Amino acid sequence: MKCRGFKLGVNVDHVATLRQARGTVYPDPLEAARLCEKAGAHGITVHLREDRRHIQDADVARLRKALKIRLNLEMAATPAIIAIAIRMRPDEVCLVPEKRRELTTEGGLNVCGQRATLRRAVARLADAGIVVSLFVDPERRQLEAAAAIGASVVELHTGAYCDATGSRAQRELRRLIAGACYAHGLGLQVNAGHGINLANISGILRIPWLDTLNIGHSIVARAVLIGMRAAVREMLKAMAGYRGGLV
Ligand code: PXP
Repeated sequence: MKCRGFKLGVNVDHVATLRQARGTVYPDPLEAARLCEKAGAHGITVHLREDRRHIQDADVARLRKALKIRLNLEMAATPAIIAIAIRMRPDEVCLVPEKRRELTTEGGLNVCGQRATLRRAVARLADAGIVVSLFVDPERRQLEAAAAIGASVVELHTGAYCDATGSRAQRELRRLIAGACYAHGLGLQVNAGHGINLANISGILRIPWLDTLNIGHSIVARAVLIGMRAAVREMLKAMAGYRGGLV
């Protein structure tokens, strides 16, 4: 499907959340990713968290092997996870801040406060042929630092806009627009993500210079509802077809 040049990266973490809730082998994030690919998504994103609460190392390996579209690995810039990324070679890595107790990634990276560490991480990943993106709030000093330490892409954190209403939302959207212009002026590719859904996508699309939108929770949540009728019918059909006796 054509979408005015914007690309969609679907984050399938929460397919794995559903699987991990029961310790089953289903639903399989790879199966979901293949459906996203068939539906026209331009890429798949997964976040390999240090606590492995949803996506597992084996998921990343299987996605890497099977996908034709781009694989973007979200991750913290820790030595252990960087080593995994270099071994798995996703097309892209998005470095994010990570706290064990958070429900989801809460804010952008403080690039200014950890220039040396992030510069080393970016260089190691880039040397392995991986495009490196930094997940940042739309603040000039963070964007300047991202460009200065060698990142080629930034993903603007859209959470504050997506969670806001009324004049606060308008203010947050203006910040994103200004941030996107500034990042573009620094020569950075501009992606965006977090909290994007069908209700706020029209505002998001007013942000200039956007390349890729990474969207996860709302698409997985919507898929549960859109697919519910078919899933119930499938089970009823299986029940109607049962002709055996008692076991
Ligand atoms: N981009 C980044 C960097 C994220 O950390 C997340 C959440 O994992 C997303 C995009 C997707 O956010 P959501 O699930 O709210 O669409």
